[in-house]
Order: sequence, then structure tokens, then C-alpha cells
Amino acid sequence: MDVAQNPEGLGNGLQEDPIQKMDVEVSRLGTLLNSKAHSINHVLQLLRKRWRWARYERTLDKIATVTEFQELVRAVQDPAFQVYEHWDAFTKHDLACFLDATSLKVEGRRFLDVGPGYGAALDVAKQRGASSTDFVDYDPFVCAFNRLKGHRGVRLDIRRNLGRMAARQYDFVWSKATFTADRFNESKTGWLQRFKLYPDFETLLSDLERLVVPGGTSVFCPHWHYENGQRKIGDVMKTRVAEILLREGYTSLPSIEGHNFEPMCPTTFIKNVTA
Ligand SMILES: C[S@@+](CC[C@H](N)C(=O)[O-])C[C@H]1O[C@@H](n2cnc3c(N)ncnc32)[C@H](O)[C@@H]1O
Repeated sequence: MDVAQNPEGLGNGLQEDPIQKMDVEVSRLGTLLNSKAHSINHVLQLLRKRWRWARYERTLDKIATVTEFQELVRAVQDPAFQVYEHWDAFTKHDLACFLDATSLKVEGRRFLDVGPGYGAALDVAKQRGASSTDFVDYDPFVCAFNRLKGHRGVRLDIRRNLGRMAARQYDFVWSKATFTADRFNESKTGWLQRFKLYPDFETLLSDLERLVVPGGTSVFCPHWHYENGQRKIGDVMKTRVAEILLREGYTSLPSIEGHNFEPMCPTTFIKNVTA
């Protein structure tokens, strides 16, 4: 049968082959199961994390020294905290490199780290004479460790509850690798929605900015998803997140050595808050 007799190719294409058709269905099912398995695994990890937090939060509140804390962390082997500990080798110069490259000062300024992890930025801000070094984080291990190092913190979920903090308290608000930019674009429907607690990006930005005094600085450097060393989104400047940041008065800085790194944290946005 030629194409002239059968212009839509009906009856002569591979699509009609039942084996091929089954192959396509099986492969579709495979992809679906894979993505469900990935999602289920993600939810299980979250549940395990929450269980660990519930189990150890009272003990962490009572700990009085960094040494005691380190002994507990070694015994518990909290995976998230172990990652922050490991990354400290890379992140401990982060804020210093940023301040040197931008000629910004934290001296005499009230510094807030939103999601400090191991707390290197808090330590550097303190060394450089910040008048106070505060943090906000939801992880009791992170909160306990940074409290024991002499910083002051609030434990809350920054995706939903930043609005509970008193407004206009800080001269310098630092958020590095705390938010995953890709998540602001994720679907807001489906059964997994209850585990996706990311707010609208505009809401989050205004919650962050609310904390800064007029004349203060807000620094926002999100983390971007990557796989096999390759960022999922090639050009981060062509995303809704970057578009909103620029529209809201943030400037994107050229890459800073020791602060930005590929593929996770390629770009930092900064805003001098006026009112
Ligand atoms: C990848 S670490 C980044 C640590 C540090 N800023 C750095 O540059 O190394 C992310 C930090 O944000 C905190 N974090 C992530 N999601 C959070 C949430 N929803 N509420 C509060 N803290 C959160 C984590 O507990 C952790 O301390």
C-alpha cells in the first residue's frame, strides 16, 4: 500500500504492530513506576528525618557544650548534619569571599542567616564584627550546634512561617543554598502536594524582605537541582525565579570565586532594601 492510497499511513506503520505497541506501554509504565518510586523514597526520607528530629529534640535542647553535641551527632549519624559538616570545608570561606568581592561590610550590623547549616557564615559575620548573629532554621541539630557556637536562633519552617518573625530587625539577611529554586516552579496539585510546602516565590521574597531594615541588604543565592554534574535548568537567568527577583529590584551579581559554584549555586541576587 503506498502513501497515495493511504495518506495517513494507517495500517502500514509500526504503530499498528501489537508487540511494538506493548513495548511502548511497558516503557511508559516503567517511567511512571520509576517516578512514583522516586517520590515514595523522597517521602520516606522526609518521614525518617522528622522521626529523628522528634526523637532527639529534647536531648539537643539540654546539651551544653559543642563537644557533647559532636558526640551525639557521631552516635546518631544524622545524614543531613553530616552533609553540612562535610560541606564546611567548602563553605567556610563563602561569606568572606562574598564580602571581599562586593566591598560590603557586616561590622556593626545585625546579621541574619536564613538556613545556616553548619553556620560558617554566622562565624565569619561574628569574626568581622557583626553586632548580632542570628539564624532561623527548622533542623534541631542545626539550631543546637549554632546556639552552642554563640549565635542566637529561632526554630521554624522558613517556607511557611517566616512571617511570624518580628519585622525590620536586620541590616543584613543572608540566604545561601537554603531554597531550591526549581521547587518554586513545581506543580501545586497531586497527592504529593502535602509534602511540597514551598510558598509562592513572591510571598517568600516579601517575607524575607520584611525582616530587613530600610537601608539594609538582602542576599539571595538559591540552590538549583542537578544530576550527574549537570544542572537541570541550563540558564538560570531565563527562569521565572530570576525574572521575579529582577522585577522586585534584585540585581544579579557576576560569579564570585569561593562563593558561587557550578552547577548548584551559579548566581547570587542582591537588593538594597529601601522602605
Ligand atoms: C544546604 S543547607 C545550606 C547551609 C548554608 N547556608 C551554606 O551555605 O552552607 C540548607 C539549610 O537550610 C535549612 N532549611 C532548609 N529548608 C528549611 C526550611 N523549610 N525551614 C527552615 N530551615 C530550612 C537546613 O536545615 C539547612 O540548615
